[in-house]
Parts: sequence; structure tokens; C-alpha cells
Amino acid sequence: MDVVIVPTFSITANITIQVCRVEDVRNLEWFGALTEYRHVIEHAFTRQQMSDVVMLNAMLNDFPIGQVWIDLYKQREQQIGVLWALRVLLPLQNLGIGTQLIGAAENVLRGRGFGWAELDVEHDNIAAKRLYERLGYATVGEFENRWSYLKPTSQTPDDAILNEERIEVVSHEWKMRKQL
Ligand SMILES: CC(C)(COP(=O)(O)OP(=O)(O)OC[C@H]1O[C@@H](n2cnc3c(N)ncnc32)[C@H](O)[C@@H]1OP(=O)(O)O)[C@@H](O)C(=O)NCCC(=O)NCCS
Repeated sequence: MDVVIVPTFSITANITIQVCRVEDVRNLEWFGALTEYRHVIEHAFTRQQMSDVVMLNAMLNDFPIGQVWIDLYKQREQQIGVLWALRVLLPLQNLGIGTQLIGAAENVLRGRGFGWAELDVEHDNIAAKRLYERLGYATVGEFENRWSYLKPTSQTPDDAILNEERIEVVSHEWKMRKQL
């Protein structure tokens, strides 16, 4: 049976990249897909309020469909800004949104007098590494990244956390850097 009901059609979408607002924070969990990182997201937002981090969101119809975070603090003495948590909602990948987010993050760093942007990418994330190389990032090292986070394991119906467990993460990553 032919299941195509309507022929293919195109849409035009306006996307704005803007600094994360308090009302965006829960939406960064992407309908539960990233709820296990709730504390990580909230911690980044707290650091943004202290001016150590900038969280940029790519907004479509007032919903954050992509994001990148910028650490202005970690390596400020070497004028290096560190990008992390770059992600774009799966059905909207390969449309140029990630490229725009990285460009916007680099502009934030240039505007604050940083000379370099740095990021880490897992060894097996070949597509992201290719994108970074295309955008001018060069591999400057590799390392074993060990970190942990508290994952909510049960919540009340109104979304309050009841229980959580600590998750230990070990990943092997390339370190990449670009002069701005
Ligand atoms: C990595 C990631 C953020 C990239 O975001 P994205 O929006 O897909 O990135 P872009 O669309 O700008 O670029 C991806 C590809 O699409 C291509 N592209 C860019 N604009 C395009 C357009 N208008 N039409 C078609 N393709 C396009 C790019 O050239 C690039 O090609 P490549 O795969 O050959 O490198 C996204 O894939 C993602 O969220 N992945 C999961 C999380 C992740 O791995 N994050 C990185 C951690 S280090």
C-alpha cells in the first residue's frame, strides 16, 4: 500500500541563536531525552549567572533545538575559551545549525578578547571531528576524560527529583584548538 499521504513539501524556518534564559533550562532536557543531565545543565546555568559560562541556544519557535556552552573561566589565563555540550536535535542535524552555533560561540570569545577556542571530541565521534576540522580546528592532543554526574532515577509527577545515582564516565577524547 502507498503510505505517502501528502507529497514532499519544504519549509523555511527562522532560527535565532541567543543566550540561555531561565525559562529555557527545562526545555534543554528535550522532552526527557537529557533529563539524566539535569544537574549538569543546572550547574552550567548557575555558572552562567556567575559570568563564568555562556550557554548559547539555537531557538526555533522559542524552543532550544541546539546548544553550545562556552567556559570563559577554565583557561582564561591562556586566552582559551572552551566549548562543550554542542548538540543539535537529531531530526534537525546536517542542516548547518551546528556550524552556526560554533561560529556564534567563536564570536562571543572574540568579543571578549580570547585568542583561541578549544573543544574535546570522543575518539569514535568521527562526524563531529570532521566538522570541527572543516571549521579550522586542529588536533593538539588526546586524553582520558574521567568525570561523573548525579542522574535522577525517580521523580514525582510534578517533576521533583526523589532519587539519584552517581554515574562515572570514562571516555577517550581528542583535544582540538582553533586560533580566533
Ligand atoms: C555534532 C553536531 C552538533 C553537528 O551539528 P549539525 O547541526 O548536524 O552540524 P552541521 O549541519 O553544521 O554540519 C554537519 C554536516 O552537515 C553539513 N551541512 C551543513 N550545512 C548544511 C546544509 N545546509 N545542508 C546540508 N548539509 C549541510 C556539513 O557540511 C557537515 O557535513 P559533514 O557531515 O560532511 O561534516 C550534531 O551532529 C550532534 O548534535 N551530534 C550529537 C551530539 C554530539 O556528538 N556533539 C558533539 C560532541 S563533541
